[in-house]
Order: sequence, then C-alpha cells, then structure tokens
Amino acid sequence: MAILPIITFPDKILRKKARKIKTIDSSIKRLSYDMVDTMNDAGGIGLAANQVGVLKRLIVVQLPEEEPRIYVNPEIIYREGSRMVEEGCLSVPGFIGTVERSIWVKFRALNLESKTVRIKADSLLAQVLEHEVDHLNGILYMDHLEDHEKLRPISSEEYSSTIRPDQGSNLNDDLAKFHTHSQSEIQPS
Ligand code: NI
Repeated sequence: MAILPIITFPDKILRKKARKIKTIDSSIKRLSYDMVDTMNDAGGIGLAANQVGVLKRLIVVQLPEEEPRIYVNPEIIYREGSRMVEEGCLSVPGFIGTVERSIWVKFRALNLESKTVRIKADSLLAQVLEHEVDHLNGILYMDHLEDHEKLRPISSEEYSSTIRPDQGSNLNDDLAKFHTHSQSEIQPS
C-alpha cells in the first residue's frame, strides 16, 4: 500500500481520456488499493486514476461510513433530472463551485473480480460517480460551471467545518487536503 502523489490542475494528464482496462491483473489491484489509501489520506471520497497519473479507466469511491468501492471501466449508462450542487476536487485544491448534476444515474462497472456491477444511485453517490467518470474522460467539474459562475476559494466557514480532530492547524496543509466530496460540505438534496 502506498500514498500516491495527486496531480493538480492545470496538469495536462487531467485532460486526457483514460483507456479501458482489458485485464484486471495484480498491477491493477495494487493500483486500486493505493488509490483508496491516497483518497483516504487526502480526505476525499472519490479518486480517478488520471489524478495519480495513470490513464486507465479505474475509480475508487468511499462515502462516509461506508467501505471503499473500486470500479473498473465505469460508465454512466443513464441519467435523469438535474440539480445544483456544491463541488470541488482533490486536483483543484482550495476551490469549490456550484455545478449541475443529475438527480439519479444508472451506473455500470466491473469489480476487481471482473464481475459486472450495476447501481442505481442518487444523492452524493450519483454526484461522485458522475464526477469520477468525468475525470476518466478528461472533464473537470469546472467545465460544468455556468458562464456567470466562478470557482470560489473555500470560505473560512467551509474551511473550519472540514477540520478533523486528528489534523493539525496548518491552514495550507488543511486546504491542500480538502475535498468538496467530504460529508460536511455536500448536502445531498
Ligand atoms: Ni475530482
């Protein structure tokens, strides 16, 4: 297990399309476990392989109070409705924005045992799945901002709500670790 460096905007790899995984071998398994560690270390609830510099279609997701999920070749196969949600990204530290996401989605992927997993998701899970699949297609959440909207720095109020007891008080370190996918920030509608 290892914590991998997270690539940040404007690195070009975040704009590349990740390639389909043909064989789920030990290197893919190791990468996915490292991505789970990296996501947890950064305080995020989702991470796509391009964010650690690997152009493969692999994402990890871990909602608060849940076990980590590992998805190979994930696809959003249906989406319905629209809602506005607050969002941020480990690759764009220190900022959030309001973007449009679906009310619910149908999602399909393989797990590490090469079995097909199908999910109908709403709320936070739907949002994270859309965000992470976007990453694999080179799309960042800022791309969904309306013209009149801008990325905004995380406010001190939002910032303080993200501090956990086991963290130090270094502002820059904490901001760097912040991910909007944290429980305190996104209120599923
Ligand atoms: Ni992200």
